[in-house]
Amino acid sequence: MTQDTKNKLTDIVSKLMHPHKGILAADESNSSANKRFENFNIPQTEESRRKYRQTLFTAPNMEQYVSGVILYDETIRQMSDDGLLFRDILQDKDVLVGIKVDQGLVPFLSNSPEKNTQGLSGLNERLVEYKKMGATFTKWRSVFLIGKTTPSQALIKKNCEDLVAYARTVQKNEMVPILEPEILIEGSHDIEQSKHVMEKVFDILVAELHKASDVYQGGIILKTSMVIAGKDAKVQSSHDMVARHTVHVLRKKIPPQVGGVVFLSGGQSPDYALHNLDAIAKMGPHPWPVTFSFSRAIQQPALDVWGSSEGKDVEGTQKVFLERLSLNSLARQGRLEHHNGKINRNHVISLRIFFWITVLLFFIFVLILK
Ligand code: 13P
Repeated sequence: MTQDTKNKLTDIVSKLMHPHKGILAADESNSSANKRFENFNIPQTEESRRKYRQTLFTAPNMEQYVSGVILYDETIRQMSDDGLLFRDILQDKDVLVGIKVDQGLVPFLSNSPEKNTQGLSGLNERLVEYKKMGATFTKWRSVFLIGKTTPSQALIKKNCEDLVAYARTVQKNEMVPILEPEILIEGSHDIEQSKHVMEKVFDILVAELHKASDVYQGGIILKTSMVIAGKDAKVQSSHDMVARHTVHVLRKKIPPQVGGVVFLSGGQSPDYALHNLDAIAKMGPHPWPVTFSFSRAIQQPALDVWGSSEGKDVEGTQKVFLERLSLNSLARQGRLEHHNGKINRNHVISLRIFFWITVLLFFIFVLILK
């Protein structure tokens, strides 16, 4: 790879990893977007998806918090009511346009719940078209289910080889690949199991990356899950535990030359993901810039307003969307307690607990002295 290409990739990475911003994932497939509309009885049509995404992308000043948006094939071709292409609206705000380029999940082996990601065939042709449309970065998601016998070694190997093959093709087109090996939250596994699986996946992914001398690690972004207990686990992890485990795994396994690390929310509630991100950022500085690339943890509160107003409350939806983005922007900097210039509720609670423990210790001390 030429130095010029490396410089171009590094430039895109550093724009995406802006110190106050994050990446909005708005690349839900049509069926995932429809499923989210179903809860509100919103018609599951291309027009609904267009109206909803128009509401997000035209939110005033969203560019204060968003460095890039990942789009879906349908969305990169869509226009606003005024006839402006969404991709142009974003570029005019200096928000980078990204595109999901994998083509979804297919069963890996028969009789196994594991899934592999398809989309390598024809990838180069699709990239050439997306690049002409102004896309500068891309995303490929593979998934790993934690179970008694999963993820299998064979699936980890296959998914990691495909992630690296994808990265190579994308960089050849001078675009930045986001590699997303998602450790699924589904299941009752504890946080230690989640950590163990993530380490295994990263070991193989990094070994594949090292083998691929033509993939420039400074020009890739890793999109990862946090290390958390499964959603059906009896014990859920505290923010502090999530942050400590996540930072430990990333620092141990991910080479410092990787361009950036971003997080998916993967079914965490918006507040849980927000506070986990803040706790992770507070443990920095890290060897790579770190930020959010959430879909649900940013969009859910906005979708609740949009859906329950049958798509009519555009202003209310945008207000909630911007509020969630501004919170995540603070969390990305480890400054959540500075929300609205006030001390955040959790902070107040811990200060109160600290105060009362001190009072209690004082009285115990006085009693002992007597
Ligand atoms: P979630 O934040 O909802 O997990 O979505 C992120 C994403 O890009 C999934 O591929």
